[in-house]
Amino acid sequence: MNLPSTLSHSPAAERNGHLILARLQQLLPAQGRALEIASGTGQHVALFGANLPGWTWQPSDLNADDFPSIRQWCAQTGATQVRPPCQLDVLAPSWPMVGEAFERLFDVIFCANMLHIAPWACCPALMQGAARHLAVGGRLITYGPYLERERPIAPSNLSFDCSLRERDASWGIRHLHEVVAQAELVGLRLSSRFEMPANNLLLVFERLSAVRAAGNPQWRQVPDFNESRPERIAKQGATPVSPWVRPKMTRYFSERPPLILHQRESVRLLRPVHF
Ligand SMILES: C[S@@+](CC[C@H](N)C(=O)[O-])C[C@H]1O[C@@H](n2cnc3c(N)ncnc32)[C@H](O)[C@@H]1O
Repeated sequence: MNLPSTLSHSPAAERNGHLILARLQQLLPAQGRALEIASGTGQHVALFGANLPGWTWQPSDLNADDFPSIRQWCAQTGATQVRPPCQLDVLAPSWPMVGEAFERLFDVIFCANMLHIAPWACCPALMQGAARHLAVGGRLITYGPYLERERPIAPSNLSFDCSLRERDASWGIRHLHEVVAQAELVGLRLSSRFEMPANNLLLVFERLSAVRAAGNPQWRQVPDFNESRPERIAKQGATPVSPWVRPKMTRYFSERPPLILHQRESVRLLRPVHF
């Protein structure tokens, strides 16, 4: 009996998947544990799962509609080291804490093509979540287009940015320095920048130890899930509040008017008629 196909297909993921994989094969040690944010169709995680044999992957997405597709891509590529997908909204004040994959910190968190197809708030939320769930020395790896102050904007990225904003005013290609600023606030340091085809970048952020991160005066420690809740509260010197202390910190990060204003200004600056 032929089951109906639940396979979703992204031509972009098909084009860039092997190039990202080649970079991961150079960058990553022989084994580890990875979380994918915004897995979409599942093509990336299926490819990585099948070709990075020492790694286990936890796919996730805000939208559960494509979970059958993720499972089917994994079955098709024989990626046995990929766990069942789970629902994860980067904006949620806490990410899933249940399931074996989340019981320990991850070595890698991978996120492709989400930052520009989601509201800006997803960027600080991704950084905060990565800082909570990555082991010290672990890496957040992002892939997608970015705008860079020092480099002219590629015409294809400029028109892509305009088309994104027409579809949803809260979307748009992000400025690299603003993304990096959000990472540094939570102790993630941009350690590598790789140019990829079609004006995309693959970025590697490393989670610093608390001692190294404290070199940044703006840095605020994000609660570490390896600690029990009472330990965390004692360290923060806060009165226990229900259910978590974390929402307080989320407010601190999201109420940063200079950064948010700057983001909006830069959006206007992008608009002049270049073509
Ligand atoms: C353009 S797709 C990218 C899919 C895949 N990573 C790729 O590169 O082909 C963007 C994905 O981001 C997900 N997404 C959007 N907002 C999100 C959020 N707040 N939390 C988690 N995922 C989100 C969407 O559901 C969608 O699957």
